[in-house]
Amino acid sequence: MEIFHSPKELKDFLKDKNKTIGFVPTMGALHDGHISLFKKARSENEIVVASVFLNPTQFGENEDLDKYPRNDERDIRIARICEVDALFMPKPEEIYDKNEPLIKAPEKLATILEGKTRPGHFDGVLRVLNKLFNIVKPTKAYFGKKDTQQLAIVENMVRTFFMDIEIVPCDIIRESDGLAISSRNAYLSEEDKLYALKISQSLAKAGAMIKKGELSTNSIKTQMLSILEPLEIDYVAITNRRFEPLDKIELDNTFILVAANVGQTRLIDNLWV
Ligand code: PAF
Repeated sequence: MEIFHSPKELKDFLKDKNKTIGFVPTMGALHDGHISLFKKARSENEIVVASVFLNPTQFGENEDLDKYPRNDERDIRIARICEVDALFMPKPEEIYDKNEPLIKAPEKLATILEGKTRPGHFDGVLRVLNKLFNIVKPTKAYFGKKDTQQLAIVENMVRTFFMDIEIVPCDIIRESDGLAISSRNAYLSEEDKLYALKISQSLAKAGAMIKKGELSTNSIKTQMLSILEPLEIDYVAITNRRFEPLDKIELDNTFILVAANVGQTRLIDNLWV
């Protein structure tokens, strides 16, 4: 595996290769969720590129950029074991320029749910991905379904900017107890973890109710809220695939989305129905 710090070096490495490129963008603190993306990218492409870049522009002023878990050595080891060919680890000054045009995520998608609590977050995500996509020029790029709203906003950018990239949505990876794997789980104490489990439990309850034929989103939300009650809930939303609220579950067209704080840690999870 080769490690690159500057866009030019990585571009030179990829130039004229004429091979399919699978790209996995990350912010580091790699975990089993990322590993599953690396494996999928490895199985579907001739070259696998991953980035580890803790992107400052997608963090708000009061967010956890400074204490976000970082471990470059460990990330390099994991990427190597997963047979990543090129690992891109730039510094912010290699990526950003004070005088650059800015991308704005579409208001309808970017100011609800995650975007309501984290204003400007998706602008920062698109800002960095637009650059990373230009550097890597991937055939396919791999994103976890845990960040469902991010996935939709990235798909929208790729489609509306006529980018020749296939966005590949990948399943959520969970601990054996159901907790969705996230870099932020590193902040959780053993006790916090027990509380955090209520998030996946509430989604499992929703799934079980739907299996039994319950389609009223009000009834499902009421049950979910009773499970989530001990947490500081940001939102429980049941929407269609365009993130519009639903009164009745629509099979193959529904997202059930939860965001809640466990102590100081904000966690998200969801279920695609
Ligand atoms: O999902 C993430 O880890 C980040 O938002 C991403 C896509 C790597 C952009 O910084």
